[in-house]
Amino acid sequence: MNILVTGGAGYIGTHTIVALISNGHSVVVIDNLINSSRESLRRVEEITDTTIPFYEADLRDYDTLGGIFNEHPIDAVIHFAGLKAVGESTENPARYYRFNVGSTLNLLKIMNEYNVKKLVFSSSATVYGSAPVPYVESHPAGRDITSPYGKTKYMIEEILSDVAMSDSSIEFTSLRYFNPIGAHESGRIGENPTGTPNNLMPYITQVATKQRESLRIWGDDYDTVDGTGVRDYIHVSDLASGHLAALTHSKPGYHVYNLGSGKGTSVLELLRAFEVSTGQKIPYEIAPRRPGDLPEFYADVHLANSELNWQTTKTVEDACRDSWRWQSENPNGYEQ
Ligand code: NAD
Ligand code: UFG
Repeated sequence: MNILVTGGAGYIGTHTIVALISNGHSVVVIDNLINSSRESLRRVEEITDTTIPFYEADLRDYDTLGGIFNEHPIDAVIHFAGLKAVGESTENPARYYRFNVGSTLNLLKIMNEYNVKKLVFSSSATVYGSAPVPYVESHPAGRDITSPYGKTKYMIEEILSDVAMSDSSIEFTSLRYFNPIGAHESGRIGENPTGTPNNLMPYITQVATKQRESLRIWGDDYDTVDGTGVRDYIHVSDLASGHLAALTHSKPGYHVYNLGSGKGTSVLELLRAFEVSTGQKIPYEIAPRRPGDLPEFYADVHLANSELNWQTTKTVEDACRDSWRWQSENPNGYEQ
């Protein structure tokens, strides 16, 4: 298939493109590089030994989108592009609605114009709000979503569902990611946050390279296995293969799948796994709870296992080793 990958220069996009090309697909990428760099795609080209058609452009620019669809026969779209900082979305909600919801509306309009019926969308476990664990797709989404970021994901899911209902030949899939960590085993591509990382794994790896002094663990008094927050960490390469599976098993209608490991891991457990698998000691201190954090969530992955014939193959230890290889070999990310 010839696949348009929006946001393809980002963390999950780059890993997914490697999986797509390795499985015989071609890709075209659009990314405005607002949270990424040209170098990430150059490295994807190096890993896959291909040249990737790339448009440095904003999805909100309808004319540019038209030019891309005009030039390339697109069979399917994987839609990663969007803003993803939860805190920033609370400070500037309108920007998040413009970037995330607005861009998706543009994309749907052009897909309709060019008769492109297949779409895979990057949704998030955040759409469940505070649901009972494990999170299962049949649980009603959209309640208690605390951030505008999370609400954009839920709104986009609703839009996709409505559009799919209007045309029986449409095949739309939302993938609800849990917590992606890890990097490509080559150490050439990985997560490259700007400024101070919000997420746990990049913070840990930056403490390990001594770019940061110590990790602050946000709360050790939750009702969890050891009092620290529990999440479902999934290796980004497993997440990438989930997109391939979603395209391969794409079917008419609107479908939603969790992509996680199905297991909960606490902050202290992840820290220990990192120390054991990399030999790096991570100094930490206990800090107050982070506002908005849930104590515990992890995925029920039976639906993706059975309908997409997809399983994770990597452990949290594999992800720790791969994140560390990426960070230690590229302490400044993609900056040379
Ligand atoms: P990322 O920021 O690394 O990648 C997103 C890419 O989209 C970036 O390269 C950015 O430059 C590009 N982009 C943003 N707005 C754009 C626009 N208007 N036009 C063109 N390009 C644009 O993020 P990621 O971690 O790879 O996440 C990919 C998707 O998965 C996002 O939609 C994110 O919300 C979602 N997601 C991520 C996580 C996570 O923890 N990483 C969890 C759940 C869902
Ligand atoms: N944590 C720390 N210290 C840190 C960073 C994180 O203790 O410096 C803890 C958090 O409190 C939480 C766990 O590590 O218990 C994971 O935190 P992350 O920030 O890595 O991930 P979250 O689960 O909070 O957030 C992720 C995505 C969001 C998404 C949310 C809900 O990053 O985009 O899941 O799906 F909205």
